Amino acid sequence: MKAAQFNEYGGLDVVRMVEVDEPHAGPGQVRIIVRAAGVNPSDWKRRDGQYRDFEDVAFPAGFGVEASGIVDEVGDGVSNVSVGDAVFGFGENTMAQYAILTHWALKPGDVPFEVAGGLPVIIDTATRALDEVGIASGQTLLASGAAGGIGSAVIQLARLRGITVIGTASAPKHDYLRDLGAIPTTYGPGLAERIKELAPNGVDAALDLAGSGVIPELIAIVGNPARVLSVADFSAEEYGAKFSHGPPKDPELIFAYVARLCSEGLFRLHVEQTFPLEQTALAQDVSARGRVMGKLVISLD
Ligand SMILES: NC(=O)c1ccc[n+]([C@@H]2O[C@H](COP(=O)([O-])OP(=O)(O)OC[C@H]3O[C@@H](n4cnc5c(N)ncnc54)[C@H](OP(=O)(O)O)[C@@H]3O)[C@@H](O)[C@H]2O)c1
Repeated sequence: MKAAQFNEYGGLDVVRMVEVDEPHAGPGQVRIIVRAAGVNPSDWKRRDGQYRDFEDVAFPAGFGVEASGIVDEVGDGVSNVSVGDAVFGFGENTMAQYAILTHWALKPGDVPFEVAGGLPVIIDTATRALDEVGIASGQTLLASGAAGGIGSAVIQLARLRGITVIGTASAPKHDYLRDLGAIPTTYGPGLAERIKELAPNGVDAALDLAGSGVIPELIAIVGNPARVLSVADFSAEEYGAKFSHGPPKDPELIFAYVARLCSEGLFRLHVEQTFPLEQTALAQDVSARGRVMGKLVISLD
C-alpha cells in the first residue's frame, strides 16, 4: 500500500511516499480502508524532532494519529463493529491507504469522511482541557488561539456546557469565532484591557491553545494560576499553571457524543483544505505556518 513516512528527523524534504506492507488488525483493533486522516501540528513537530526528549520514534515512521474509513478487518475481541462499517477514531500511521484504529466510533451517514477524520484529536483534547481547567456552566472562559482545530472544538463544547467563551484570533477570523458561539477579540498588546471591557466581572479560567507565550498574561487576567491551562506551552507549569496531555481517557464516549452532535447540527468542523496523500508534505507545511482555521485533512478516494 501507499503510505507517507519519514526516515530521519528533518524538514519537509524528509517526508516520503513509499510502498509498504499493509498492517493487520491485532486483538482489540480494527483495520480500515482510510478515507480521510486529520493533519495535526504534532505531525510536523514529531518529524522536526521536537518530541525527541520524551518520545522514541522508530524509523522508518509513519504519520497520522486519527482517521475515518471503512472497516475491512476486525481483530479478536472486537464485537461493536463489522466489516463494511464506516468509523472514525484514533489510530497509527493513518496517512496511508490502510490503517489500524485502536479507539473508534461509528461514523453517522450524514457526517462526511473528511469531517470525521479530523475530529478525534480536537474533540479529545478540547474535552480534556475543559475538564482539567475546572470551569462550570454559567462561568466565562478565555480561549487564547481559538480559531484553530482545538479552539473550534473548545468553543462549541464549552457553549454546550453553558460556558461563555471569549476567543482570541486575528481580526479576519472573528466572524468564524462568532459563528461558533464565541465572543471574539484579537490577541497581542492590550489583551487584559479588552477582556475587562468584554467581561467586566472577570473570566473564571483561561486556555492557551496556541503556545504563543501568553501564560503570565493569562494568569494575570484570571487571577489564579490553577485556572490557567495550556495544551501547547511546555513551560506552563513553571508559572503554576497546568499543562494538559494524553493519553486519552474515554475517547470512544467522546467520539460517539460528538458524532451525535454533528448529526444533530450542534457541532461542526470547518475543513479548511483537503490534500491527496501524495501532498502530505504540503499539508504539513500549511499546518506549520500556524494560520489554519478549523482543520486540514488528507483525503483518500
Ligand atoms: N497537549 C495536547 O494534548 C495537544 C493535543 C493536540 C494539539 N496540541 C497542540 O495544541 C496547539 C493547537 O493545535 P491546533 O490543532 O488547534 O492548531 P492549529 O489548528 O494549527 O491552530 C492554528 C491557529 O492558531 C492561531 N494562532 C496562531 N498564532 C497565534 C497567537 N499568537 N495567538 C493566538 N492564536 C494564534 C491561528 O489563528 P490566527 O491566524 O488568527 O492567528 C490559527 O487559527 C498546537 O501547538 C498543538 O501541537 C496539544
